[in-house]
Amino acid sequence: MNPFAAQLPHTLLETHFEGLGPKYRGKVRDVYDRGDTLVIITTDRVSAFDHVLGTIPFKGQILNALAQAAFTATADLGPNHVLSVPDPNVVVAKKCRAFPVEMVVRAYLTGSLYRDYQAGTASAYGVPLPSGMKKDQPFPAPILTPTTKAAVGTHDQPISEVQILSQGLMTEAQLQAAKKLAFALFARGQQRAQAHGLILVDTKYELGLAPDDTLTVIDEIHTPDSSRYWVAAHYAERFAQGQAQEMLDKENLRGWLIDRHGFSGHGTPPALDDEIRVTLAERYAELHQRLLGQAFLPVVGDVEARIRGNLERAGLL
Ligand SMILES: Nc1ncnc2c1ncn2[C@@H]1O[C@H](COP(=O)(O)OP(=O)(O)O)[C@@H](O)[C@H]1O
Ligand SMILES: [Mg+2]
Repeated sequence: MNPFAAQLPHTLLETHFEGLGPKYRGKVRDVYDRGDTLVIITTDRVSAFDHVLGTIPFKGQILNALAQAAFTATADLGPNHVLSVPDPNVVVAKKCRAFPVEMVVRAYLTGSLYRDYQAGTASAYGVPLPSGMKKDQPFPAPILTPTTKAAVGTHDQPISEVQILSQGLMTEAQLQAAKKLAFALFARGQQRAQAHGLILVDTKYELGLAPDDTLTVIDEIHTPDSSRYWVAAHYAERFAQGQAQEMLDKENLRGWLIDRHGFSGHGTPPALDDEIRVTLAERYAELHQRLLGQAFLPVVGDVEARIRGNLERAGLL
């Protein structure tokens, strides 16, 4: 049997580890607060348009593997929050004060920004964009289009650098340091993607301050949840012909929701059926292969029980 289908009944929807600390449930992660550190468990939950739609076999493990590889590959550019990885789905992280702003870096005019550009509302980010650009066209250089980090159930809103400062969300020095770091991380992410035949189109960084005020990369980086990737070999031809790019990320899910179910974020989302859950699991495994140069080896079984054992062995439970 296809291991991705065999894992369907074992996916990790939510954890309940009594005694690990107070729990915050994000869209994808369960975060346990242990004072100076966080135990961050990447579940198999999948979200789109800010709704959690269900679970994808092995998604948490694959996301965590991709994030860890990216953190390792960018550690020379600035500190990140990772302290240890006691289980394939788990990170013990330095607890930071997160800035309430997401640093979105984009190299191409696509997705929501293209829709804003067409609607004439792309100026909300305070970044001047050349006129007459086509969908999926690269910018002369990557741009920063920050968004406010919205509370649960609300959508992120565009914000400009001027507003970030005038609203006191960051100091000038923090903003400049954050921008510099975000662009450096992005350049490294682009290099790594290119080496594997992919284009890192855009991505989102969350940054925070460690207890000693060091600017620190938190959450996840360069994962398919936080980034858009295209297949490099097909880019030019598809762009020239005005065709959609081939994506290896959750745009596949958005496509399924929009094209098959007419859902674009309003009202109640459709439940994921097993077919799309397995398809998406295979997509995540493909990204693991492409970005890490290694096949993802699925081990079918109860994820929560394995995590519990590893947390106990690490002395956390
Ligand atoms: N090192 C850290 N310090 C403080 N907060 C963090 C850190 N790493 C991640 N977080 C926060 O933990 C949460 C992770 O859960 P996630 O499911 O990704 O949330 P979201 O629904 O906001 O995407 C996010 O709110 C993120 O900002
Ligand atoms: Mg997140």
